[in-house]
Amino acid sequence: MTAIRGATTIPEDSAEEIKKAVKELLEQITSRNNLKQDEILSLVFSNTKDIRSYYPSKAAREAGFESCSLFSAQEPDIDGGLKLCIRVMMFVERNLTPQHVYLRGARMLRKDLADKINIAIDGPAGSGKSTVAKALARDYRILYLDTGAMYRACALKVLKAGVSVEDEAGIVDLMKDVRLDVSYRDGEQRTLLDGVDVSEEIREPSVSMAASTVSKYPSVRMHMTEKQREIAAKMSCVLDGRDIGTFVLPEADFKFYLTATPEVRARRRYDELRAKGFDVNYEELLSGLLRRDEQDSTRKLAPLKKADDAIEIDTSDMTVQEVLTVIRAKIQEVI
Ligand code: DC
Repeated sequence: MTAIRGATTIPEDSAEEIKKAVKELLEQITSRNNLKQDEILSLVFSNTKDIRSYYPSKAAREAGFESCSLFSAQEPDIDGGLKLCIRVMMFVERNLTPQHVYLRGARMLRKDLADKINIAIDGPAGSGKSTVAKALARDYRILYLDTGAMYRACALKVLKAGVSVEDEAGIVDLMKDVRLDVSYRDGEQRTLLDGVDVSEEIREPSVSMAASTVSKYPSVRMHMTEKQREIAAKMSCVLDGRDIGTFVLPEADFKFYLTATPEVRARRRYDELRAKGFDVNYEELLSGLLRRDEQDSTRKLAPLKKADDAIEIDTSDMTVQEVLTVIRAKIQEVI
């Protein structure tokens, strides 16, 4: 006997989507494993708790799987688990080398079976990129790469060395022996500058503007871009930044461009920094943000810009959950 596994996700909880997804999943499993209907002994389904509209087992019966025994169960609600997911275990009489089938969002469950996926999320400061990127990386269990943190670490090096952020030649010199690494602790990115964890220090408001200035120098950008491309070539990841969709990974599988009004973005930054204990002023944050937008979008190499094929989302009046719902639906339409 052989057990073949399969899983898929649906864009929303409706009887129609469940029926469509179950039919597609079972047809893919049978065709990829060259199976006849009467070889199938049983189908055991499980689904995440957010699927309530229809039994996957009933959908299987309606899809023509008539002679095998069927069973459906609900999975426990796991933090960070995949949403709207249907899994199946198909038992067949014959001994064969099983071809397991993972479709749509569930491809992320078996990264060894699925292709690598890169998701680019660009946009100005405070547009919600990092919150959304982190949540997606958790959902799909792939890496999150905060590229802004890398530019911030470069800026910190410059500030600490007492070199002016306007001194391009001095900065190029300094960058010759910078050691910049990202590592992960409890799923959170840690940014290491010359071997020291600077993840908290780089969030200082003074580092923001310096990062924007330092990032306009081509040699700094190319150094960072190379590192980012290297990471993205090796594994599935969500990258957030300014130029991921246009320059770092123009071939990214998914591209999103988030925006929001400057006032909303400044308010978000204000709340975020206050919560971290920084003594910040809303007006100053707003004007700093506008100066940064201007500098980031007018630099010569890889400016802040929406890629032609990116999906733009204005997050001004949206909650994080609403933004995530739109993005997940777009991703699940394709995979
Ligand atoms: O996302 P952030 O606020 O941490 O980024 C800090 C600065 O780094 C930003 O103002 C411009 C620069 N940056 C960049 O030029 N390209 C990126 N991909 C990410 C950040």
